Amino acid sequence: MEESKLRNLLESLTLKEKIGQLIQLSGEFYSDEEEIVTGPQEKLGISSEMIELSGSVLNVAGAKKTKEVQKNYLSKSRHKIPLLFMGDVVYGYKTVFPVPIGLGSTWNPDLVKNAYEVIAEEASAGGVDVTFAPMVDLVRDPRWGRVVEGISEDTYLTSTFSEAMVTGFQNDLNPMNSLASCVKHFVGYGAVEGGRDYNTVDMSERHLRQYHLPPYQAAVNADAKMVMTAFNTYDGVPISGNDFILKDILRDEWGFDGVIISDYAAIKELIDHGVAADNKEAAKKAIEASLDIDMKTNIYATQLEPLVENGEISERLIDESVWRILKLKNDLGLFENPYRSLSEEAEEEKLLTEDNRSLAREVVSESAILLQNNKNVLPLKEDENILLTGPYGDEKALIGFWAIYGENADVVTLKEGIEKVVEPDHFQFVKGTTISEDYAFLQDFGASKGKAQSFVMSDEEKESELKEAIRRGKEADTIILALGEHTLQSGEGGSRTNLELPKNQKDFLNEMVKLGKKTVLIIFSGRPLILTDEVEQVDAILQVWFPGTEGGNGIADLLFGKANPSGRVTMSFPYNVGQIPVYYNHYKTGRPLGTSTHTGRFVSKYLDSPNDPLYPFGYGLSYSDIVYEDLTLDKNKMQEDEEINVSVTVKNNSELKAKEVVQLYIQDIAGSVVRPVKELKAFKKVELAGNSSKKVHFKITLDDLKFYTKEMAYEAEAGNFNVFVGPNSKDVLQDGFELI
Ligand code: NOJ
Repeated sequence: MEESKLRNLLESLTLKEKIGQLIQLSGEFYSDEEEIVTGPQEKLGISSEMIELSGSVLNVAGAKKTKEVQKNYLSKSRHKIPLLFMGDVVYGYKTVFPVPIGLGSTWNPDLVKNAYEVIAEEASAGGVDVTFAPMVDLVRDPRWGRVVEGISEDTYLTSTFSEAMVTGFQNDLNPMNSLASCVKHFVGYGAVEGGRDYNTVDMSERHLRQYHLPPYQAAVNADAKMVMTAFNTYDGVPISGNDFILKDILRDEWGFDGVIISDYAAIKELIDHGVAADNKEAAKKAIEASLDIDMKTNIYATQLEPLVENGEISERLIDESVWRILKLKNDLGLFENPYRSLSEEAEEEKLLTEDNRSLAREVVSESAILLQNNKNVLPLKEDENILLTGPYGDEKALIGFWAIYGENADVVTLKEGIEKVVEPDHFQFVKGTTISEDYAFLQDFGASKGKAQSFVMSDEEKESELKEAIRRGKEADTIILALGEHTLQSGEGGSRTNLELPKNQKDFLNEMVKLGKKTVLIIFSGRPLILTDEVEQVDAILQVWFPGTEGGNGIADLLFGKANPSGRVTMSFPYNVGQIPVYYNHYKTGRPLGTSTHTGRFVSKYLDSPNDPLYPFGYGLSYSDIVYEDLTLDKNKMQEDEEINVSVTVKNNSELKAKEVVQLYIQDIAGSVVRPVKELKAFKKVELAGNSSKKVHFKITLDDLKFYTKEMAYEAEAGNFNVFVGPNSKDVLQDGFELI
């Protein structure tokens, strides 16, 4: 629709009709069926008139259903403004890819962009217009359950994926195969104190700007159409009423003129936070902060009209919000075709196709991280006698917490994946033990108490499973242990303080390693777990996250060497919970361990734990022997308008072809404020044929050296810099230069 017509449309709306556009309800308001629930349920107390006027709906999908709801809605609508269908299509619709922490582990944003194009094509066939993704909160605390939805502890890496994901989803908003992207949760949510979900966030503005804002800015620069506010505070003010964050930074500094939506019930939570005395004040604060859509509360629906009528807010504020929403509907082409690409035929054609599955399989094999491979027990040989055991051996629930449209039934289990490769007389499976013996964490979510109890094995079952696993383990050459945390132990509301494998699984592993066979541990989890004990007990460890629909096939490709592992750590794996947060790009202290002139006790360290993590950022093995040589900088002095060309030779000294993630870090040795010990500035995932070598090139420009100085200017300061290149943040070659 032409912009002038859209303006006329806005002007023809009554105040009530305008407010309707600012309200988002979930499916139960539109149908009698049981709907997907992604937050606390409360009676909303919204008039039926407002329900009919509300402009968008949450988590209703499927061509048949969305078509019906839209048709019915439009038949009652005076102006025929289409309803906008929004949903959590986070890392898969029907073809579910690995959870985002796994996608980050690929270090392959181009591949992930392809995956997001597929997700957009599937979900838009199912009637979804806008997705609440990607989540680009920086994740440095694995106690926080939502790290499963995050990319990494590093700002640059997260920003790179942020751009790729938004671009993949939006596909220039092509009406046939795109989703508008709503980046979330703006901002700082990953820094909740103690890793406890919904908790306080407090940090300096410098830290916010340096580390937390850039991944969002990358999304906005990639033209993300929407932004979701985070539940947390920044500097004492919850984001949904924080005009510094929403207006000064997002709207004014960045020029974002898209739609801002609250997270689920977050406007009402201004009252729980204690910054609004009542619904009226909550509404006023949110709309004045330019927050356009109220997700799942009655605040805008009941408060905005009296606020305008009493002259406490200007109707102009409402008009501005409505305009942004109408523009989004127009950009999506909804006025021309309210159904966009949805159709049951398109679903038949586009969902879970062979191509989509094979892309998902490739992503699985790039997202898994080989953490350990003693005596090169991996890859396995097809004629070895293999026992697969553990609760994840034949488990279909591999799609993770936020794949709400995916089906476990479509998942290829690990057992099924392996069975396609090895002959039956070389392969056995015994479940051995359950995921957990205590399902209290499920509470009222995801399973009733009674149902949860049925997952628990009786003492007799436990004994006979263990006996059977031991008996078959004795016959095997290699034992694969498929262990991990429960899917619902990560995700929203999934904070934990104990990050070890559940006790029954640890006990089971202890028994199995006593058999003295080659052991391969496969870890399914939504966060880096504490693997300090297991590292000493098993030969190989493969971290596979929740790998999604093609999980079993992708893992089998790695186990048998059809694919060479190339995933790398994006969140440091701690030795113990007490070290958390532990991340590679920490600041220098006045008494750094190792380099301080002070000795003994009085340096920055723990008495009972290393400072460094068990597995550092960037780390991951492959089956090849890769060597880095000849780090070269083309100059050792750089003027502001110059750049430095860096090269390094990477050799693959083995027969197998490999994918290697070559990483470049810098360190600003002295600045006007304390600088991190290392910062990732570039990386390349390169293919290396067997017994070959490649020269890999990088450029360092002035932009790579900029930071928020003491004066809060974003600029580079003259002085010396270290340059590190290597396979991870720890094992690096080093050189340096001076910025003059
Ligand atoms: C709450 C979550 O924080 C957010 O990530 C999600 O998009 C919304 N619920 C909608 O389900």
